[in-house]
Amino acid sequence: MEPESSKSPQVLTIHDQPEAPSGMAPWTWSELFPDADYRFNFQFKRGLISSFYQPSARGSLALRERARLLTHHRADCLAWLPSSEGAIADAHQVFADLGLVPNPNASNPTESLLALGQSLEADLILLQITENQPVVIAGVACFPTGWSLPAKLGRSLLGVHHEVPELNEELGSRIHRFLSGLKPETSWERANWGLAATSQLNLNPSTFFPRLTAETPLEEIYVRVETQSLTLLPTSAAILFGIRIHLTPLLSLWSHSELRQRIQRALRTLPPALADYKGLTSIRAKLIEY
Ligand code: HEM
Repeated sequence: MEPESSKSPQVLTIHDQPEAPSGMAPWTWSELFPDADYRFNFQFKRGLISSFYQPSARGSLALRERARLLTHHRADCLAWLPSSEGAIADAHQVFADLGLVPNPNASNPTESLLALGQSLEADLILLQITENQPVVIAGVACFPTGWSLPAKLGRSLLGVHHEVPELNEELGSRIHRFLSGLKPETSWERANWGLAATSQLNLNPSTFFPRLTAETPLEEIYVRVETQSLTLLPTSAAILFGIRIHLTPLLSLWSHSELRQRIQRALRTLPPALADYKGLTSIRAKLIEY
């Protein structure tokens, strides 16, 4: 589906929200929260790798936090398997060719992942299709949403998604077909939303970040949007998965009654197990009524 025209008064774009960080386009709030019951979003848009990974207006804050995490908590956010050396070098070269990271001096997987993790605002995960299954082989993930990269290393995507209720049953084979058909250069992009009781970017479980409860004040709730890019690396044929986080205070969206109703509908129709997984069970009744 094409992005809706930003001229329409009915459509609220991400850019209309003063608090929204740059870099979330082309997704609109009305696409993230369609006028429909909740369902997994399997909508992809074709984009450019150079655009997806471009620095955002307030990116320097995020980059400082990434440098801190990669210095003091490296084992929580950087991981690779010996079989991933070629894929990491390939990823490094792609971003160096785009001018987004310094050129690799030598092929050193940790140094390459550090360069990528400190230069780009996006988290990166590399997967290789092995025995017909995409397997997580490396990555640098400083801002995960409730998971940790080292725990996913070596796991198949079916295993990674096992934590998400109903995802594999509903979308597992479509995801597999989609990933098997990726081509280099095109960035296929999707978006995912959640709510958080904090504006902290790093929601690695090791941080014991605040969870939503029935008592969480509404002004402390953030809509946490992940934009994601999938592409095939040209030399290694590894899959490159990029994730960017965008935070918006929920109350800044609440004043738009149509959008509020769409968010409330999504919350009302989330299957209970998925509401639990997304940490929304204790807050959703309050938000649906508010
Ligand atoms: C290709 C299409 C994909 C779709 C449609 C998809 C969809 C999803 C959805 C709906 C969730 C639940 C998030 C939420 O609702 O809050 C999820 C979680 C997750 N996905 Fe994907 N995903 C895709 C590809 C990938 C890839 C390539 C990776 C790379 C490893 C990945 C890694 C994850 C991880 C780490 C989680 C969190 C799992 C946890 O909480 O333990 N996904 N995905």
